[in-house]
Amino acid sequence: MEAPTPHLLLFLLFAISSSLTTSTADDGAAMLALAKSFRPPPSDWSTTSSTDYCKWTGVKCTSGRRSPLSELKTLTLQRNKLSGKIPSFAKLSSLQEIYLDENLFDGVEPGAFAGLTSLQILSISDNPNIAAWSFPSELVDSTSLTSVSLDNTTISGVLPDVFDSFASLQSLRLSYNNITGALPPSLAKSPVQNLWINNQESGLTGTIEVLSGMTSLSQAWLQKNQLTGPIPDLSKTNLFDLQLRDNQLTGIVSPSLLPLGSLKNITLDSNKFQGPLPLFPPEVAKVSAEHNYFCTAKAGENCDPQVMTLLAVAGGLGYPSTLAESWQGNDACSNWAYVTCDSSKKNVVTLNLAKHGFAGVISPAIANLTSLKNVYLNDNNLTGVVPIVLTFMPSLQLIDVSNNNLTGEIPIFPAQVKFNYKPGNVLIGTDIGDSTNGGGPGGGSKAGVIIGVIVGVLVFLAILGFVVYKFVMKKKYGKFGRTDPEKAGKLMVSDDKNGYGANNFNALKSPSSGDSGGDRFPLEGGNVTIPMEVLRQVTNNFSEANILGRGGFGVVKERVSGRDCCAH
Ligand SMILES: *[C@@H]1O[C@H](CO)[C@@H](O)[C@H](O)[C@H]1NC(C)=O
Ligand SMILES: *[C@@H]1O[C@H](CO)[C@@H](O)[C@H](O)[C@H]1NC(C)=O
Ligand SMILES: *[C@@H]1O[C@H](CO)[C@@H](O)[C@H](O)[C@H]1NC(C)=O
Ligand SMILES: *[C@@H]1O[C@H](CO)[C@@H](O)[C@H](O)[C@H]1NC(C)=O
Ligand SMILES: *[C@@H]1O[C@H](CO)[C@@H](O)[C@H](O)[C@H]1NC(C)=O
Ligand SMILES: *[C@@H]1O[C@H](CO)[C@@H](O)[C@H](O)[C@H]1NC(C)=O
Repeated sequence: MEAPTPHLLLFLLFAISSSLTTSTADDGAAMLALAKSFRPPPSDWSTTSSTDYCKWTGVKCTSGRRSPLSELKTLTLQRNKLSGKIPSFAKLSSLQEIYLDENLFDGVEPGAFAGLTSLQILSISDNPNIAAWSFPSELVDSTSLTSVSLDNTTISGVLPDVFDSFASLQSLRLSYNNITGALPPSLAKSPVQNLWINNQESGLTGTIEVLSGMTSLSQAWLQKNQLTGPIPDLSKTNLFDLQLRDNQLTGIVSPSLLPLGSLKNITLDSNKFQGPLPLFPPEVAKVSAEHNYFCTAKAGENCDPQVMTLLAVAGGLGYPSTLAESWQGNDACSNWAYVTCDSSKKNVVTLNLAKHGFAGVISPAIANLTSLKNVYLNDNNLTGVVPIVLTFMPSLQLIDVSNNNLTGEIPIFPAQVKFNYKPGNVLIGTDIGDSTNGGGPGGGSKAGVIIGVIVGVLVFLAILGFVVYKFVMKKKYGKFGRTDPEKAGKLMVSDDKNGYGANNFNALKSPSSGDSGGDRFPLEGGNVTIPMEVLRQVTNNFSEANILGRGGFGVVKERVSGRDCCAH
């Protein structure tokens, strides 16, 4: 079979080079290699001799044959029938644009795009014969990229998390490939406006949370993947076109999550969306939302309050697919899984979400289920706090949250409620969770810490005063341990007026570094020395006072108990 003559539209633009030191042999060799890599090569290109490469069709040598290939700026070879491997362009640091779309390439040289520090446009779309390869992560060198088009090029595997390297990237087209895994988090730090990763063979997985940070995003095509979880807050994006159909997305579609100032097109079809069918303002001209699990058929109509409450519970768990599947319709007492209703078939009395590996938090909305008697949330991966409002539920008899990873305070339930939180939950009641559980009932604990510190300081000062007083009395009426009578004699303890100020307290706060004199610890005041024996008493008392006074202020407790001197 004779290969058809390619309609070659080749344009190799060489920049004028002031330096003419590069030998023509280098360029010739490079051009020859390029010619050999194309099957078939353009008809008048030689694959044996590069002597006249400047006369080859489509090759332009703008400053004579002496311009080095490293000055190549644009390579335009789209819509030919070129086959073979896409050659390596590595280190062509002047190359700004590569167009190789719609050819018959069957592979890509490894590292083909490394060191392309000037590259702005890479366009290889519609090369469906390339042997499976992955997204060329060597593009991180190309920090000036504005447009990457690799759709329909048999890319497979996970996208590398490199998109924060491209400060100018506007267009990212990766549709019709076999990209799997999650959307890379670094996309949130890229200025991408047009994101096309639709129609992947197996499908992207994970959530679309990253979109919420993409403030430049105006068009997102993510249809036909395996994406899960809810629509995040997209109100800070610039989206006019959001294609989400044919995924596994769940949760409530609240129009307030979307940028209603710009949005024109949205498809939600064939997902597992829940709650009310959203009602968009007329500016959103094209809406389609067929084949979902909405509770009502009329846009904007509310669901049953009990259904909304259970959806809020599911929301705390990130709207897992299992709950979207089993909680369909607008009546929670119509044989929904994981819930049991009373005999009137109106109110949920048991909620059993135990042992499903659910991650997320316990929604305070559970408290709205006022008929609820039994709540099983045990043996999951729940984090965050046990909401205090649950202690006010009027009918509650049993709540089991054991074997999770909950933090925060241990809530105090009324006596008739059986509250199981052990085993598991090793952090609960340790207060460490305050920084990680993001608000909740732990919010007031900052004031608690401050009050605790003040109380601790006052108690400490009182004890210090008492101990020093004792010490002086002992000195006066008898020996106190190994006190040097002469030095101790200098310790002036009068009444409260010139007693123990902040300076002295500060000096005592760093004892281990301060007691360089072995047994002695000099006070900042000057000629005062307190025996180590006294300090031990002081710090011992301090540690106890601290634990009581500050309700277990982690850092200080640790510091005090970690000192051998004070342990006994
Ligand atoms: C992929 O590219 C080939 C060759 O250009 C084309 O025939 C095919 O329609 C493209 N597929 C898609 C889904 O665009
Ligand atoms: C797509 O990728 C998946 C997972 O790597 C693989 O199992 C599947 O065979 C690939 N599909 C095609 C058409 O290459
Ligand atoms: C909707 O998006 C399509 C492309 O997906 C575009 O052609 C069309 O103009 C958009 N419609 C509106 C109303 O913006
Ligand atoms: C729970 O009840 C409160 C107070 O009645 C209400 O404001 C809130 O919207 C309810 N939440 C849900 C999810 O039903
Ligand atoms: C909880 O999460 C950890 C880490 O993500 C995972 O290894 C573990 O299997 C999960 N546990 C359950 C019960 O799903
Ligand atoms: C529990 O949570 C803590 C902090 O939130 C985390 O470091 C730890 O890995 C978690 N343990 C499990 C089993 O998920």
